[in-house]
Amino acid sequence: MTRERDFPELLERVTPECLRIIARYEEKRSALLMLAHVFQEHEGFVSPEAVLAISEMVGITPAETEGTISFYTLLYRRPVGKYMLQPCRGLACAINGAEDAMAYFREKLGTSNLETTLDGLVSYEEVECLAACDRAPCMQVNLEFVYDLSPAKIDELLAGIRAGTYPVKAMAQTDPPGRTWEIRQDDQVSTGRKAPGATGVESPNNAGGVGDKSGTIMLDKIINRDVEFFRETRERAVLDSRAVVESVEEGREEAEHARH
Ligand code: FES
Repeated sequence: MTRERDFPELLERVTPECLRIIARYEEKRSALLMLAHVFQEHEGFVSPEAVLAISEMVGITPAETEGTISFYTLLYRRPVGKYMLQPCRGLACAINGAEDAMAYFREKLGTSNLETTLDGLVSYEEVECLAACDRAPCMQVNLEFVYDLSPAKIDELLAGIRAGTYPVKAMAQTDPPGRTWEIRQDDQVSTGRKAPGATGVESPNNAGGVGDKSGTIMLDKIINRDVEFFRETRERAVLDSRAVVESVEEGREEAEHARH
């Protein structure tokens, strides 16, 4: 399917469904995300043409549509692979081995974060908390959850995708994906269009996970250095970890005394 030629046909085909969705909401604009999913399902991503069509349907500007869509890793703004693999790099997953799982994915796929395999089959993106922290480390495959990741589970998943037997349906792929949809730091940060990464993290694309350490930097700061914050919080993860740090420090001091 060539999008330029076929988008008007697609629009005609999905318009009745879009209108049914819009009719469910008191405010038309509330249907925005649902409509984006409709177009993504047909095109494999939310194309610029889809952004214009959605904006017109719900009566907002394309900038507003773009601003909303770009907030979610559930919606893809560039052509991606038939399978989008999105392991979580949030704190609960990081503590439970997400870094190892992500390193394993990168090795097995031959990609970095925000890259698509050369055959266009798989795109890979490390994402923020997926709200399944009790089954960490977890991920989504074409938005379907996979829990309790392990190397064996990852092997099985990739083998299934490559063999065409994986139980989650492949996404539409109307345009060939590029190798990456990364926002280049050089172009964007130096011109002030994009803020650099979190404190201690160089890349604006990395808020946490393998290759960047913002999650662990934050935890380290809370537990070891930011005593003011530590006094204010009642978070068990922080208090318990701090208690461990204090008991280790006490043990060190006692050993020091005993030596003198
Ligand atoms: S931190 Fe991974 S699901 Fe919440």
